[in-house]
Amino acid sequence: MSLLEARNVGKRYGPVVALESASLSVDAGEVHALLGANGAGKSTLVKILTGVIQRDGGTVELRGEPVRVSSPSRAARIGLAPVFQDPALVPDLTVAQNIRLTAVDVDAVRQRLREMDVDVDFTEQAGDVPLPLLRMIDLARAMARDPQLLLLDEITAALPSDLAERVFAVMEDWRRRGRSVLFITHRLAEVIAMCDRATVLRDGRDVGTLVPREIGERQIVEYMLGPEAATAEAHAAEVDETPLKGAAAAEAAATTLEVTDLRVGSLAGVSFSLRAGEILGVAALEGQGQNDLFAVLAGDRRAEGGEMSVTGKSLRPRHPYDAIRSGLVLVPADRLLALLPQRSVRENIAAPRYNRLGRWGPINPREERRRVASAIEALQIDTRAQRQVRRLSGGNQQKVTIARWLASGFQTLLCFDPTRGIDVGTKRQIYALLRRLADDGAAILFFSSELSEFPLVCDRVLTLFGGRITGELAGEGADEASLLRAMHGLVEEVAS
Ligand SMILES: Nc1ncnc2c1ncn2[C@@H]1O[C@H](COP(=O)(O)OP(=O)(O)O)[C@@H](O)[C@H]1O
Ligand SMILES: [Mg+2]
Repeated sequence: MSLLEARNVGKRYGPVVALESASLSVDAGEVHALLGANGAGKSTLVKILTGVIQRDGGTVELRGEPVRVSSPSRAARIGLAPVFQDPALVPDLTVAQNIRLTAVDVDAVRQRLREMDVDVDFTEQAGDVPLPLLRMIDLARAMARDPQLLLLDEITAALPSDLAERVFAVMEDWRRRGRSVLFITHRLAEVIAMCDRATVLRDGRDVGTLVPREIGERQIVEYMLGPEAATAEAHAAEVDETPLKGAAAAEAAATTLEVTDLRVGSLAGVSFSLRAGEILGVAALEGQGQNDLFAVLAGDRRAEGGEMSVTGKSLRPRHPYDAIRSGLVLVPADRLLALLPQRSVRENIAAPRYNRLGRWGPINPREERRRVASAIEALQIDTRAQRQVRRLSGGNQQKVTIARWLASGFQTLLCFDPTRGIDVGTKRQIYALLRRLADDGAAILFFSSELSEFPLVCDRVLTLFGGRITGELAGEGADEASLLRAMHGLVEEVAS
């Protein structure tokens, strides 16, 4: 049953359209994600639904009855409680004083925090409390109103994984009790693991409601960014059933990453191309520009100059979403950043179905189990600790990060020191996995802090020194001595 139904809700600030026309339907007993790029209107919708601002147009119904949410206290009375994107506490007042300001029972908040096993000193000034704890206080305060619908605006962005996990537990509890959560996050792994449905906003309009687990991260990104920047057509291609032949295989022949005179941070003008089926190494001493290179390609940083293109199409990622939609995905050294560490292998992989039809259909648990099982087998993930990814060995965690992308589709894998801290046996399996991905048509850029990996893994190796490419070696010729010479800038600079 629908708990909340917003239709064609709009909001303008003078000439600025914050929300053009957004519709949203949240069922009772549902965790519903509200997704969209920055500026899509998510926070504006939350503020409208909780009485902080008034809508210019549209309707809002609660259990089929029209409501006018005229103020935050009215929202609270009808069972809508928000946690806003920005901490809603006065820094100069104590935690307890802050809570009294909003007419919530201090003991109830204390009780909620205790239930979440979060320890807060209520006599401390809010300004002295670390941000993650402030977020948990905001959450406890919202929970203390015992709302039908919790609206959580990017609450997990500032939380370490153990606290994020307590938020997930609250969301699951709300669902179990037939209540609802509207959940805003940029972390797509959270959306896939936690949310029953998702409504996507783009430029102030709702552009679709989907089942995240059915369609996967890359397709979600397509919805958020819209068709214009359209490599979209290619990306919508059907994906082969076998896990190792992901979207990579479908687009194999075409993919090439071209980087021309790229400049950012300490990267002082770098050019190279990476072909489908190739593993290209980047060897460098600490701090020669490799971090900046990977950050730019993954959309974590903006280039200061130069050009990038994928398959002839210009690439200027402003956000990781842009990179993902262009098929560039990052496998970082710290894999726990890419995963939900306290969730199961299954939840982390979540076997998205990457097809155009049946997107709205119910999740078929047996089908999902089958897909996860086949990914686990293909990647030889040791699942003795599969109930919690953080209990897996580092190598198996890293395989799970790769498995997530396999399920979602990619063409270019950006591996930044992917085997750091991993045992030798598992390292070998990861090398073999990367080779199989390349054979299936993926393009792989590979940085490692261990020189011995380059000849084992790469077809070709570039050396970076002082932000420039100082050498290019064939994979089998990339022995330690040759690499070191080039990495110290001790060879003639090659054309770049
Ligand atoms: N008070 C305001 N005055 C003017 N423009 C605003 C105001 N609040 C939001 N906007 C604009 O409305 C758009 C949507 O903002 P917001 O709802 O915060 O997006 P999101 O939460 O999805 O990132 C943005 O372009 C933003 O700049
Ligand atoms: Mg926002």
